Amino acid sequence: MRRTEPLRALARETHLEPGALILPLFLCPGEGVRREIGSMPGVFNLSVDEAVKEAEAAASLGIGGLLLFGLPETKDERATGAWDEQGIVQRGLRAMKQSGAGRKLVVMADVCLCEYTSHGHCGIVKQDGEEYEIENDSSLGLLAKTAVSLARAGADVVAPSDMMDGRVAAIRDALDEEGLEQTPILSYAAKFASAFYGPFREAADSAPQFGDRRSYQMDGANVREAMREIDLDLAEGADMILMKPAMPYLDVIRAVRERFEVPIGAYQVSGEYSMLHAAFARGWLEPQRAMMESLVSIRRAGAGFIVTYFATEAAKVLAARA
Ligand code: PBG
Repeated sequence: MRRTEPLRALARETHLEPGALILPLFLCPGEGVRREIGSMPGVFNLSVDEAVKEAEAAASLGIGGLLLFGLPETKDERATGAWDEQGIVQRGLRAMKQSGAGRKLVVMADVCLCEYTSHGHCGIVKQDGEEYEIENDSSLGLLAKTAVSLARAGADVVAPSDMMDGRVAAIRDALDEEGLEQTPILSYAAKFASAFYGPFREAADSAPQFGDRRSYQMDGANVREAMREIDLDLAEGADMILMKPAMPYLDVIRAVRERFEVPIGAYQVSGEYSMLHAAFARGWLEPQRAMMESLVSIRRAGAGFIVTYFATEAAKVLAARA
């Protein structure tokens, strides 16, 4: 059954289609800006006009959607840029929705404060000399306000990635109150505190200025806790669940797939992309085969959709095969 490609295709258990791929984009101020991220070859900070072009290319390849992040002009302690009506992602969303691409794609907006806070943490920080704490409850209002403003600007889905407790309920309530009851929530319910987010923090300029995210993101050793986080988020009103990172946590994706009936996505994060690219640059791995194998592994583990920086490249490979 493995002798020829038609035989292998007949026996193949796992398939990928471009519609299952979600492309992350990093929006930045300016016009005509296309600045490559040093640690992520082929990934750029894009001004809104350039991002719209990227979205059009993605849509013509049949990609499922986009996940938008923003680099604001200025940062402050209350993450004003995250919920500002004229914020960078809000402007991007309006432009996407005006272009044909934005109507073909599911345009998701990441909801978090770390790209917009001066200290780079995902919530409000209470500091007392050397001591500091990320305040869970006082961060919820700002996260809800951010989600409302992104949904109003045209986000088809809001995706909270901050990992504060209770944020899904706070966001659901705020959306409903504002007449945005049709906007679904994709919760990064099980987000592990991971070294693999390193390159993203260069791309989104969101590295914490002190400390780390281990007081709010999950300990990578825990599977049962991931289940509890998902139970809570679903009870609070999450419509879909995102797992991340992907490749180092395939067992968690599988366990989650078997236990929950909601749509589940996985995020092949920046470090997973960068490490593959580092090996491609040295000629140590065959780029196309390694890319497709990594994506199929995530699908096989149980992810219905995959957020990946390879989305466009992989969709081209799939189009050539079809
Ligand atoms: C924001 C956020 C991060 C990622 C997605 N949303 C960074 C972090 O938690 O530090 C990481 C994505 C990637 O590494 O590609 N909180």
